[in-house]
Amino acid sequence: MLPEGFLLRGDWLNFNTTTQDRHIMTDLANLSIENTALIRAATSLQGLDEVRVQILGKSGSVTLLAKTLGGMSLEDRKTQGPLINALRDDMAAQIEARRADLEAADLASRLARESVDLSLPPPPRRRGSVHPTMQVMDEMISVFADMGFAVAEGPDIETDFNNFTALNFPPKHPAREMHDTFFLPEDAKGERKVLRTHTSPVQVRIMHQVNEKLPDWIAKGQEPPIRVIIPGRTFRKDSDQTHTPMFHQIEGLVIDKGIHMGHLKWTLETFISRYFETDAVTTRFRPHHFPFTEPSAEMDVQCDRSAGEVKIGEGQDWLEILGCGMVHPNVLRNCGLDPEVWQGFAFGCGVDRLGVLKYGMPDLRDMFASDVRWLEHYGFSAHSAPNPATGLS
Ligand code: DAH
Repeated sequence: MLPEGFLLRGDWLNFNTTTQDRHIMTDLANLSIENTALIRAATSLQGLDEVRVQILGKSGSVTLLAKTLGGMSLEDRKTQGPLINALRDDMAAQIEARRADLEAADLASRLARESVDLSLPPPPRRRGSVHPTMQVMDEMISVFADMGFAVAEGPDIETDFNNFTALNFPPKHPAREMHDTFFLPEDAKGERKVLRTHTSPVQVRIMHQVNEKLPDWIAKGQEPPIRVIIPGRTFRKDSDQTHTPMFHQIEGLVIDKGIHMGHLKWTLETFISRYFETDAVTTRFRPHHFPFTEPSAEMDVQCDRSAGEVKIGEGQDWLEILGCGMVHPNVLRNCGLDPEVWQGFAFGCGVDRLGVLKYGMPDLRDMFASDVRWLEHYGFSAHSAPNPATGLS
């Protein structure tokens, strides 16, 4: 910034200047005095901005002066150009300095004026919570973990083979349609993958893996039973009060020697009783058909529905809970296991559905509507979620 009064001190008069030059210098000096006064008179940031426009704006006094340079002779431009530019820079610097002063004054007066009212209640603190589906999944996992089940997972995008063929769905069989499958476009090999319609294809993956390791295990004298649960996302073209296109299932698979329906029944009844936290559970196994189990059944739980909500452990109504059965010999064979040696049972149930039943949510679709108010109402505090590994909160 040029020193204050620079244009008045007449430093330039020491140079060899013509009369005309001196005229110009007087004009510049006057302009400088006027503008400096204007800048100092501005008492608000807005007022200062108006002054800035008057001086340096498109038609500001200094801008107009600078424009006259264009019409001057080279000689004049050489002597007057630097002076006009210096004036412009000086004005800009003065405006900035004034702005800083006004801002500081503004801040100081706001600090003096405003105070914080410590008696006001703080704004509500929003806390994240565990989604009911995940909470229910964790609860189910911990029940099965207590019974010695391991947890396995598989991909959402499956081959048609794992999702259907290996599970004994005959090709072109209407059961494939029954699942309202989302098919992916054909890939380069002409294969159409699917969004898995159930978690059952992971059974196939597990049996294959175990089968690969079996000779080694047998050689070491450690033939382990398979005892896994498989939680995960599943997909079907379906949407109404009790169906959503994406939902969650937990699949169970037990393979060992000498496994029978009694093991299946005990496991599922124990699970239901622990999950619904009541000993008074009565179940009913209805014959059903699944291509991958034989015999197949659907398990119902006795409940009371009279008051518009479902109460497990009371009443005379029945509620369908899950599908289950003994693993079909064809499925064992498709996975390289000899059905004469190995038997197993399997089951699959809807996680979201069991959550809706346990926590009394009226519409399954709300589970995935991402309505924060709903989630705040039904979500679970992160602290209350049991640790899936230990089952402890
Ligand atoms: N995958 C079946 C479904 O989504 C459920 C099911 C039924 C799974 C019987 C099983 C089973 O493992 O044995 O409808």
